[in-house]
Amino acid sequence: MNKKITFLGIETSCDETAAAVIRENEKGTADILSNVVSSQIEEHKEFGGVVPELAARAHLENIEFIIDKALKDSKISLKEIDGVAATAGPGLIVCLTVGLNIGKSIAAFSNKPFVGVNHLEGHALSPGLENKIKFPYLLLLISGGHTQYLIVRDVNHYEQLGTTIDDALGEAFDKTAKMLDLGYPGGPAVEKFSKLGEKDYFKLPEPIINKAGCNLSFAGLKTAVLRESKKINNDEKLKYNLAASFQNTINKILYKKTKIAIQEFKNKTKEKKVQLIVAGGVAANKSIRENLTALSKEINCKTIYPDLKFCGDNAAMIAWAGIKRFKKNLIDNIDISAKSRWPLDSNAPYMKGPGLKL
Ligand SMILES: Nc1ncnc2c1ncn2[C@@H]1O[C@H](COP(=O)(O)OP(=O)(O)OP(=O)(O)O)[C@@H](O)[C@H]1O
Ligand SMILES: [Mg+2]
Repeated sequence: MNKKITFLGIETSCDETAAAVIRENEKGTADILSNVVSSQIEEHKEFGGVVPELAARAHLENIEFIIDKALKDSKISLKEIDGVAATAGPGLIVCLTVGLNIGKSIAAFSNKPFVGVNHLEGHALSPGLENKIKFPYLLLLISGGHTQYLIVRDVNHYEQLGTTIDDALGEAFDKTAKMLDLGYPGGPAVEKFSKLGEKDYFKLPEPIINKAGCNLSFAGLKTAVLRESKKINNDEKLKYNLAASFQNTINKILYKKTKIAIQEFKNKTKEKKVQLIVAGGVAANKSIRENLTALSKEINCKTIYPDLKFCGDNAAMIAWAGIKRFKKNLIDNIDISAKSRWPLDSNAPYMKGPGLKL
């Protein structure tokens, strides 16, 4: 019987301080021995967004306690762990450095292998914690900093089909919540209040919907929400209508662009039956899930979502990516440093900024 690998994972790339102990199981999925996440909602609420210096300080204050708790909850000792994984990027350097340095130190003093994980690979492989998934699959990664369609051919093997040319989807949700004064964190607030409004009340733009393949754009939509929000004079009903119309427009955009991405995936992989995996913080949005599940039924593809606790940032997905990389011998040296930008597909064109040709 093959030895089942166990990893300690550490995540501090943005505003969650997290540690987890994960072990592979017989089913090819993961046993979650512990999963501790401390969110910094209170620290950043007043500012309506993440303040890097405050986030880094909170990570420093909490990280030892969180790792200690993850180890205690797991009921196994550091000796029984096969390796340590910590997020090495992309993210805020001042935040990444906290988890990365402590992860490297634990690995060094306990003489264990160390894996520096790409946070996006953590999201990309996260549904595998609970589902046995075969490669290749189509990934829609929707998070606070990224929005991408990728072919996941294997661990460490990604091909980008499309990306946002401006804002990330999570960012668009957060900014909409801020403009409508719906509360923080923004994504869940928009989802909650959109249920109280009429989804077809405002006609909002769907930028680049009929061009640029499965690339996406949300900046024009955000500007339209800003323009409409100035006209509603704090009328609660209109505010909810605007939130509902925003959510509905996102659903329409994702429906159309995902359909294109599925076709591109089929063309490139020659797979007949497509598995669509939706991951990242925004994948927690139930309306988006229902919308993409409806699309997948229509075109006979299989849709898989991570459990809600694995959508937002967590260390279980980092430990899991660590195990997957370790098994492929993708182990890092202790001098690995934090990276603020780290695309999964290093050959993908950079799509943001001036000079972009659509
Ligand atoms: N129910 C929801 N509906 C819409 N958006 C949501 C929901 N829940 C969380 N989000 C959004 O998800 C984002 C956070 O996701 P995540 O933690 O994966 O992002 P991040 O780690 O900051 O960015 P990245 O993973 O790209 O580095 C936020 O923008 C948040 O508003
Ligand atoms: Mg994330």
